[in-house]
Amino acid sequence: MADILKITDLHVSVEDKPILKGVDLTIRRGETHALMGPNGSGKSTLGLAIMGHPRYEVTSGQIMLDDVDLLELEADERAKAGLFMAFQRPTSIPGVKLADFLRHATTNIRRPERKEGEDLIPMREFRKELREKMDHLRMNADFARRYVNEGFSGGEMKRAEILQMAMLRPSFAVLDETDSGLDVDAVRLASESIAEIGGKDMGVLIITHHDKLLEHNRPDVTHVMLDGRIVETGGPELAVELHQNGYDRIRAKYGDESSALAAAATEEG
Ligand SMILES: Nc1ncnc2c1ncn2[C@@H]1O[C@H](COP(=O)(O)OP(=O)(O)O)[C@@H](O)[C@H]1O
Ligand SMILES: [Mg+2]
Repeated sequence: MADILKITDLHVSVEDKPILKGVDLTIRRGETHALMGPNGSGKSTLGLAIMGHPRYEVTSGQIMLDDVDLLELEADERAKAGLFMAFQRPTSIPGVKLADFLRHATTNIRRPERKEGEDLIPMREFRKELREKMDHLRMNADFARRYVNEGFSGGEMKRAEILQMAMLRPSFAVLDETDSGLDVDAVRLASESIAEIGGKDMGVLIITHHDKLLEHNRPDVTHVMLDGRIVETGGPELAVELHQNGYDRIRAKYGDESSALAAAATEEG
């Protein structure tokens, strides 16, 4: 298993527009980091760039997993190297059942040398494991027979993402607003599940605005992003402060005039 995810001076553009403007971040396996910041500051962009989404172009900087240069790898190869991302807005895959999707994904991660067309994890073994994990997440068994994310509620999608993480057992996970759209009980369950799955074995980057998800996943480090840069880094108390007081202090201290105006416009609208 990989031990260190190290991001150095990362610049990322989307459709030629610079979004990330020099991000440095190091996560060790076993650590939980919270990434907070106003909407549009670039949090999801960071996660997607780590995962290797083709639309997010790294224009300079480095992403290393131990001594492996992730920028040389495609998204599927990064997953095999031990990365996972739970998406803020997961896509649906009509026609592909969740169970089939997970069986393929799990086989590919556990047997990275497997060629297309070779055997999958035996059905019986897979079913048993899937059922246990679904029970644990209090997901109805019917769920596995539905098409991936097709017609899922916001909360169901987030649960499906956690289920995927539970099956794949990555060394590093980025969880992008895995609490959005969940009610209080569901957030508590998600929070507990993430802590159980992750434990001391996983490095986790939790992108969130809420402290509920952090309740069972107390961050060792909290980062605040504004306008494509990490402007402040602190301990768990920083996450609590931002949750309670919002980002006014951060904007006043680090924001330029345009982002202050944009923030004012959002708050009015
Ligand atoms: N696929 C995309 N196409 C165009 N613009 C994008 C895309 N993804 C992100 N952006 C832009 O990048 C900026 C940061 O977005 P994002 O990373 O989603 O922020 P956050 O997750 O912090 O809310 C925003 O201005 C957003 O409009
Ligand atoms: Mg986002």
